[in-house]
Amino acid sequence: MWDAVWLNAHLATMAPESGGDDGYHAIRDGAVGVKDGRIAWVGRRSELSGPPEDLARAAFDCGGRWITPGLIDCHTHIVHGGDRANEFALRLKGASYEEIARAGGGILSTVTATRAADARSLLQSASRRLEPLRREGVTTIEIKSGYGLDLDTEVRMLQVATRLGEETGIRVSRSFLGAHALPPEYKGDADGYLDLVCRQVMPQMASEGLADAVDAFGEKIAFSPEQVSRVFGAARELGLPVRLHADQLSDQGGGGLAAAYDALSADHLEYTTERSVEAMAEAGTVAVLLPGAFYFLGEVKRPPIDLFRRHAVQMAIATDCNPGSAPVTSLLLMLNMACTLFRLTPEEALTGVTRNAAAALGLEEECGRLAPGLSADFALWDIAVPAELSYRIGFNPCAGVVRAGQAV
Ligand code: NIG
Ligand code: FE
Repeated sequence: MWDAVWLNAHLATMAPESGGDDGYHAIRDGAVGVKDGRIAWVGRRSELSGPPEDLARAAFDCGGRWITPGLIDCHTHIVHGGDRANEFALRLKGASYEEIARAGGGILSTVTATRAADARSLLQSASRRLEPLRREGVTTIEIKSGYGLDLDTEVRMLQVATRLGEETGIRVSRSFLGAHALPPEYKGDADGYLDLVCRQVMPQMASEGLADAVDAFGEKIAFSPEQVSRVFGAARELGLPVRLHADQLSDQGGGGLAAAYDALSADHLEYTTERSVEAMAEAGTVAVLLPGAFYFLGEVKRPPIDLFRRHAVQMAIATDCNPGSAPVTSLLLMLNMACTLFRLTPEEALTGVTRNAAAALGLEEECGRLAPGLSADFALWDIAVPAELSYRIGFNPCAGVVRAGQAV
């Protein structure tokens, strides 16, 4: 006996094993059975083995709406202090993101604000930003540290990320991003700072179970490939998987570097070359595209989408929600931008916030598809066809969100 069954819905299962001739692997007039918070059955309503009341304790009529897997925002910096509206104004007057960073603004100004914020205010401001994502059907979110750059604040950020998940019921995957920028007290001493990151902060994160992965920012204004390698080597010793902010502003061979450490994902990738794409394909590293950052920074060089397709690299899409390069709190808008700016198809875009986003977090056996055995995370949509999720701008057709079988 199931706990509940959802009926009278079309299912965009996003699960190749469901068959279907489109990228949504759709089942028209389907049903989803749920037991103990997990999906017990997915299929056509006509194939149910009996009347719903014999199969489940509760039956929900979805009124012909669509169900998709709960959406997954696989790259965010949603926990942070302050804002950078002043830098937005400076950039509009002609200053570049890199110039602002080199002048001590950028990430470091958010570091100052985050260090000054206590856990309560960090939780409060992050909750406000999470709410619109939740209302858009997001049931899993990745959250990075990286605005503390000292032991206490980095720990506080990931504690707040953990609390956010506990309080909202949304699944949170946490990444330790100690190598995001060089903090002012280590100016001119990157090696000294990386000693702190690799010998003290990362081991403590690992022993307290505060990080699910380790991230780094590989860029001229951040850390060199050698420095990133050092961070990734330390992560490997602690058994933590890695991901990388790669080739966002220049080609640093970041995609290839990430792949060399079997990274779960390489993110941004505007300047990534075919060599790196081949290495990512070989390693199974997911390409996380961040069209909001591309848009907000007024970038013109697009990530090499055709190369990802040709080499069968999975593409995911995320908000990058952060105060500097992407003050974005709509994943649906990112679907639209992935299509309009990067020329993804609506099928690729939805796959990018479901199945492929799960892979980017190492959660492909947990969420991201409507398939038996996975967590019962799904969203209900008032739409006629799934492409509407990518098509509309500023309209939220989400009619309900279920996480682990419970409405959230
Ligand atoms: O993903 N690229 C580095 N990190 C963030 C930006 C952080 C910031 O500007 O505060 C990003 O774009
Ligand atoms: Fe980022």
